[in-house]
Amino acid sequence: MARILITSAIPYINGIKHLGNLIGSQLPADLYARYQRGRGNEVMFLCATDEHGTPAELAAAKAGKPVADYCADMYAVQADIANRFGLSFDHFGRSSSDQNKRLTQHFAGKLDEAGLIREVSEKQVYSNADGRFLPDRYIEGTCPNCGYDRARGDQCENCTKQLDPTDLIEPRSAISGSTDLEIRETKHLYLRQSAMKDQLDAWIDSKADWPILTTSIAKKWLHDGDGLQDRGITRDLDWGVPVKKGDQDWPGMEGKVFYVWFDAPIEYIACAKEWADASGKPDAEWERWWRTDKGADDVRYVQFMGKDNVPFHTLSFPATILGSGEPWKMVDHLKSFNYLNYDGGQFSTSQGRGVFMDQALEILPADYWRWWLLSHAPESSDSEFTWENFQQSVNKDLADVLGNFVSRITKFCRSKFSEAVPEGGTFGDREQELIAELTRRVRAYEGFMEAMEVRKSAQELRAIWVAGNEYLQSAAPWSTFKEDPEQAAAQVRLGLNLIRLYAVLSAPFIPETSARMLSAMNTLDTSWPDQVAEALEALPAGHAFTVPDVLFAKITDEQREDWETRFAGTRI
Ligand code: 2FM
Ligand code: ZN
Repeated sequence: MARILITSAIPYINGIKHLGNLIGSQLPADLYARYQRGRGNEVMFLCATDEHGTPAELAAAKAGKPVADYCADMYAVQADIANRFGLSFDHFGRSSSDQNKRLTQHFAGKLDEAGLIREVSEKQVYSNADGRFLPDRYIEGTCPNCGYDRARGDQCENCTKQLDPTDLIEPRSAISGSTDLEIRETKHLYLRQSAMKDQLDAWIDSKADWPILTTSIAKKWLHDGDGLQDRGITRDLDWGVPVKKGDQDWPGMEGKVFYVWFDAPIEYIACAKEWADASGKPDAEWERWWRTDKGADDVRYVQFMGKDNVPFHTLSFPATILGSGEPWKMVDHLKSFNYLNYDGGQFSTSQGRGVFMDQALEILPADYWRWWLLSHAPESSDSEFTWENFQQSVNKDLADVLGNFVSRITKFCRSKFSEAVPEGGTFGDREQELIAELTRRVRAYEGFMEAMEVRKSAQELRAIWVAGNEYLQSAAPWSTFKEDPEQAAAQVRLGLNLIRLYAVLSAPFIPETSARMLSAMNTLDTSWPDQVAEALEALPAGHAFTVPDVLFAKITDEQREDWETRFAGTRI
């Protein structure tokens, strides 16, 4: 049994996530976690809310709440929606946890001991109108790299370039919009990433199997221009992890906090401790996932994230871990995604454009969304959500192909035999051909899932459903029944077993529906079809089942038009 550690990029606390966020990390991570569990491997799947920094402060101010209260409330909301979307985290933590605070301060202390932190007296943007410094997202302006006019002080979301607030052209305060800004001196800590450039370069070179999207972004930051730059890891903010070296004060850094991108990835580790602490497990239980000196050397660690997160995960976070000199587990595979666009434009949290997770669940169950999003994951390029495409794919793949198959075979059996797997007959050539095709396709599906090829996995799964439908169409038990009821019984027995097989294979994509299929088939047998022929005999003759309610309702043109209009604007 393999041990697999999976983390999804931790979503900012500032509001409910949109479907573009969901498909960029949490959902494909869940797909992979469910698949690996289905294969009998030991999985630790972690995610959390990213609660520090300017996104949290700005959102709390907008909501008129103290930031700690805002985060607590929003955490509960996000945890509930994640649960309703079937995201099967082993733990959903909070980057503001005590565990993360301590671990962040611990890493800073270790980096300082290793001589990898320097103090810099630097110029920062100060807003006279707001009476404060404006770090990161507190400032907006035009990107010097691509000209995008809503770039934020920390990063341009259009071209992914990491920025400093002072880089922005025509900067303005994100709080008041004021352009009455001046530059003032303030003291900050910098992580000497440049000193670790060769070490990071060699580490990335050792990852020959990483997707090109990932390595090209990392290489760009390592080599473009003057190469990898040192990075400020502290901020003049109230909300965040107070700057300390371990549990010691850091002279000169009073009143400052660590930069959100310093503590957020450390939460991947702290989250495992939160998981252990929550159920009274000893530290050894989480350390066996994270410490290579305590059992994690045989763990495979996979991270999922959107492309804008790649520089932080290939450079900044590895610099923190490597620089600490301690035996922490480093990522083995990093799966990154392009963007999902919404109907001719971008999804946008700040502008409220697109469909948000809570809204999605108000109109349809999670599996409809999971299927569409995963089968259209923005892997090799950006992809686009349109209502028409969504309608088509739900109606065809889910209702016509899978849903119809389940309904036809169970109803036919009930009407001609009974609500039990029929006895008699044997499998002939047609059945052997189907088994051969399914064997080939299941092996291909496994290959794509292992490789985290999300779209290809979905295509293969769909082809597996189609094969069953085509079999049913050509075997036509409703005709066979008239001349040879024994033969029809064998065909129906195969069909009913296919439902169980489909439930097992489809569970990573559509877990709720899979559970309904298994419950209709009255079985707890979720064993993986290592041998397809055997798997198709799991439900023996005489095994009782029930006809399930319709698995997927078709989306009507009226509904589609209604939703198109309803989601055309922006939500405030
Ligand atoms: O882009 C985002 O949504 C960030 N909150 C992701 C952080 S991932 C990690 F570093 F923890
Ligand atoms: Zn840009």
